[in-house]
Amino acid sequence: MRLFITGGAGFIGSNFIRHLLKQYPDYKVINFDKLTYAGNLDNLRDVADNSKYSFIRGDICDRQAVDEAIKGADVVINFAAESHVDRSIEGANEFIKTNVLGTQTLLDAARTAHVYRFMQISTDEVMGSCEANEYFTESSPLRPNSPYAASKTAAEHFVRAAHITFGMDVVTTRASNNYGPYQFPEKLIPLMITNAVEDQALPVYGDGKNVRDWLYVEDCCRAIDAVMHKGRSGEVYNIGSRAEKTNLEVITTLLDLLGKPHSLITYVKDRLGHDRRYATDPTKIEQELGWQAQESFESGMEKTVRWYQSHTKWVARTRSGDYIKYYERMYSSR
Ligand code: NAD
Ligand code: DAU
Repeated sequence: MRLFITGGAGFIGSNFIRHLLKQYPDYKVINFDKLTYAGNLDNLRDVADNSKYSFIRGDICDRQAVDEAIKGADVVINFAAESHVDRSIEGANEFIKTNVLGTQTLLDAARTAHVYRFMQISTDEVMGSCEANEYFTESSPLRPNSPYAASKTAAEHFVRAAHITFGMDVVTTRASNNYGPYQFPEKLIPLMITNAVEDQALPVYGDGKNVRDWLYVEDCCRAIDAVMHKGRSGEVYNIGSRAEKTNLEVITTLLDLLGKPHSLITYVKDRLGHDRRYATDPTKIEQELGWQAQESFESGMEKTVRWYQSHTKWVARTRSGDYIKYYERMYSSR
């Protein structure tokens, strides 16, 4: 099997490539990534010399480059995206380009290349914010609230259209908030860990009571693997771990694991359009594909904190250069 993976130098993509090379030593894996600020080949340093793995630097919006790289692929898995909500609030154009136009470019190239299956890595955010005690299923209406979520929703529609119009074999996943090793420190958990390690303030948006369902990245990789191999064409699968926590619960857990004082918590201006709660019902993937989250919130958080503590060089490199400018822009006048 030959897998064409886009965005494999990012957080979930790099964990997924590592998962594949371990579980399926016969599979060939091509990682096609533009290496934006979020893409980092350091994330794959330990597998870079694996003879079954190859890397191509390229943009999913560049049809010619995609046509060349996709030749011979059996399955496309599209992780490539602009993925951070706060950046989409600053400006949505890159999100529309990569997440919408890029996905359609890949669909066209995959159809021309007679790829057997196209897998879209979407997000639970396409369904917007849910009420207390409400759980989104795969048939809940799509009500994206941020420019990021709107672009991911548009991409999903083009994937669905390719299935209906051209009969392409497509599957889509909607995962909840992932966390774990190699996550870029603009996202809540790595940002809070790396700030706390340096005794810097921890910027909590609003009242800190927004709820997310935290999914350990290796559980997400196993779910994507299950959908890739066994998911039914044209179907959508939610991936959730039934581990709902408020942001304050997450942050105090991290501070306790690090042995740092809760006084580092600093309330700052809320995110515009901030979704209050994400919670999906993962019954479909559990019953149809036999997948279940294995990592508990407590053990996943402990592993994650220890990973960041022991990868100081990786942290220092990701928190330098443009990251410092981003942090000042985003937080200095908040
Ligand atoms: P990330 O930001 O860490 O990585 C994105 C990767 O895509 C980077 O390597 C980047 O270089 C690459 N990329 C960006 N634009 C590109 C382009 N035009 N062409 C080729 N490569 C490009 O993202 P992540 O957190 O690993 O998320 C991966 C996917 O999973 C995204 O599609 C995201 O929407 C989805 N998702 C993420 C989460 C989460 O909690 N992180 C949850 C659900 C779904
Ligand atoms: O639900 C899946 C989505 O999860 C993915 O599709 C996105 O790619 C991913 O970024 C994530 O989106 P969120 O907006 O939920 O994640 P983020 O880590 O940015 O924020 C999590 C919560 O923490 C959210 O309520 C906002 C809050 N927050 C975040 C940051 C960065 C803070 O309070 N302070 C912060 O500094």
